Amino acid sequence: MLAQLDQLYADALAQLDQATNTADLDNWYKATLGRKGAVYLLTRQVGQLTAEERPLFGQRLNQIKNDLEARYQQRLDNLKTAELEAQIAASALDVTLPGRRPVRGGLHIITQTLREIYRIFGDMGFQVYRSPDVETDAYNFEMLNFPPHHPAREMQDSFYTTRPDVILRTHTSAGQIRAMRDYYPEPVRVILPGMCYRNEQITTRSSIQFTQVEGLAVGKAISFADLKGTLTEFACRLFGAERQTRFRASYFPFTEPSAEMDVTCFLCSGKGCQVCKYTGWLEILGSGMVHPVVLRNGGYDPEKYTGFAFGMGPERIAMLKYGIDDIRLFWGNDLRFLQQF
Ligand code: PHE
Repeated sequence: MLAQLDQLYADALAQLDQATNTADLDNWYKATLGRKGAVYLLTRQVGQLTAEERPLFGQRLNQIKNDLEARYQQRLDNLKTAELEAQIAASALDVTLPGRRPVRGGLHIITQTLREIYRIFGDMGFQVYRSPDVETDAYNFEMLNFPPHHPAREMQDSFYTTRPDVILRTHTSAGQIRAMRDYYPEPVRVILPGMCYRNEQITTRSSIQFTQVEGLAVGKAISFADLKGTLTEFACRLFGAERQTRFRASYFPFTEPSAEMDVTCFLCSGKGCQVCKYTGWLEILGSGMVHPVVLRNGGYDPEKYTGFAFGMGPERIAMLKYGIDDIRLFWGNDLRFLQQF
């Protein structure tokens, strides 16, 4: 038995010498010191020894085991270092090369424009109010005083769903009623930003989806002067203090009276250029005093409350501001365009 042990030790050492990589070494370990390895198999035969022989055998076995463990560990360390060195040598790593710059993201031009609008109205006490993109006909049209066959609906050709009363909102005005019902009987001062959808031909000037920012103020004794003052102040903060505004009579079913607001062209300062088509003015938004029917639908008594509303398109504002001539660029996901802002 002791002779067998010595033989095992000699064989193991010889095989260890032959292991030239970590995989070999791993196999050697399993075959020698592993759970069913040679050493283990030999210990199982210890029962055949006499009582006197056993201590000597045990002692020698432990010696061999410890020795083999230590040699294995040493060998493993050496091989690992060698393998790493070979890998480094093979892959020609040049630590003096400059690192690769990670790609840095940025905010979309419309997000930037929206945030500027939020900041200006935030200063004036308006909160951002979110309302759904998917709306009912009632919120988008009917409660805003568009009866079912009203011709004004034609200007907002809608995307319908399989449910006849559910559409994609054609304007953020749909959220006006929601905000009023939420705030009643408190005064309302909110802006409603978000994506709107219209079934339009896709051209450089019109798109099937675009953002709008709606504004709504409802309270006691709110007048048209408040509307003009608020929106003129907004225009000056967004486009520059020297801007002038003008209001032209217009029509929306949900406001009465209604007006469109122009600002003096910020490119030519009113002298006339290509962007303002030589008029000196740029149309920025639609607005008006909240129609009594709409106030009532929102829960407010039009005898006691009044309000104003307005709506603008951030894409149009960005187009004017940066001289962008194609609205399709905003949602085309072309980095060459987006990275410019
Ligand atoms: N919702 C109108 C549009 O999309 C804009 C608007 C909003 C007009 C609020 C008046 C008041 O054209």
